[in-house]
Amino acid sequence: MKDQKLISKAREILNNNYQEKGFTIPCQGLYPFQWNWDSGFIAIGFAHFDMEKAKKEIKTLIDSQWSNGFIPHIIFHNESDTYFPGPEFHQSSLSPLVVNKIPTTGMTQPHVLGFMLERMYHIAENKEDITAFIKATIDAVYEYSLYFYKHRDPLDEGLVYIYHNWESGTDNSPIWDDVWNTMESPKYKFERRDTTHVDASQRPSNEEYNHYLHIIEIAKAHHYNDEKIAELSPFLIQDPLFNTVLIASNQSLIRLYELIGGNEDKIATLKQLTEKSIQSFNDKLYDEELKAYCHYDLRNKKLLRYVSSSSFAPLFAEIPDQKRADELVGTLMDKFGNEDQYMCASFDPTHERYKPKQYWRGPVWINLNWLLYHGLNKYGYNAIAQRVKDDSIEILEKNGFYEYFDARKEEHQNNTAGYGGNNFSWSAALLIDLLSE
Ligand code: SER
Repeated sequence: MKDQKLISKAREILNNNYQEKGFTIPCQGLYPFQWNWDSGFIAIGFAHFDMEKAKKEIKTLIDSQWSNGFIPHIIFHNESDTYFPGPEFHQSSLSPLVVNKIPTTGMTQPHVLGFMLERMYHIAENKEDITAFIKATIDAVYEYSLYFYKHRDPLDEGLVYIYHNWESGTDNSPIWDDVWNTMESPKYKFERRDTTHVDASQRPSNEEYNHYLHIIEIAKAHHYNDEKIAELSPFLIQDPLFNTVLIASNQSLIRLYELIGGNEDKIATLKQLTEKSIQSFNDKLYDEELKAYCHYDLRNKKLLRYVSSSSFAPLFAEIPDQKRADELVGTLMDKFGNEDQYMCASFDPTHERYKPKQYWRGPVWINLNWLLYHGLNKYGYNAIAQRVKDDSIEILEKNGFYEYFDARKEEHQNNTAGYGGNNFSWSAALLIDLLSE
């Protein structure tokens, strides 16, 4: 009964955020366009009760693909004065690779599309219809995977870089502070809109925004050319979350190609890339002392030795062997598993940079919990996975469908520990998916 009430509320949120043009905004005001990885999570929520909307969501995202396979992070389908920086700042038309004329950003986001397509296949009751949809879309998703290895892997390691913190999805992680400390960005004149919707203490600072804008200005000056960006961007990171999601999408694409038949060449390419990626991932991104996966700073040639919720994402794509997974889960429980906390904070709660209310500097996010839940189950950690799932449901039930949540249980006494945007689409979508398990 309780679950049914939550599911109906979640469906209502998704339907309200769905737009006539066939995409779903993450939430009103704060995020009034289509976001890449949000769309993936949203599609699996819709897949449980309205497959046509789920398919539309994926289709509108793929329609924004550039001629080199790249799919952007925001698609500005409509005008809006509630968000900064908008299409006039990003100017995607500077790139000669743009195909669709709808303006977008010139950066991307974690590639969840492959495993979202596979999840949609499993959820679908009408297998014939979903198979036809997969056949019509899978090559675009494959090209998106290949884009990264062709253009974002300068050392040919099978590990791809991101050139902007907004590409990571974990926008203002304290890990990036190390990069900001190497930069002297101009002080731009700009008008933030996010802080008109959400308390500024829960969002990134203006100093951080100067860095965010500066990196984009460098990319724009070179028409979003990847080779120039690799040469010049002060932010060039091999991110464990981003690479995990890419590998997991590749693994799903292999299974989906096997399911629809043919495409042996693509299956072989994906297998070869994935094997190489996993090898380099384990060799380069694991810190033996911290017993956790970390981010590698390609520009400054060093491992950024911090533990965050991204450190545990590799479980989702079965990147560690069982022994390393056991060690990693040990780190998870030591740092993030205290009984006085909900799992899983986005940044190490024992670290001085931890900020429990500030966006990606500490709060719990439902999409990272969803990845962690599935990852833990893959290694037999079913009880901890169940805790992650129960915690996710409990915080949504207590506080509402917010964007992020305080990990500290004591803060939840008045049910006001949900922060950022409210009626947030992926929180709703993933609640539906988790409750269907
Ligand atoms: N989430 C980012 C923002 O806060 C953009 O992807 O604006």
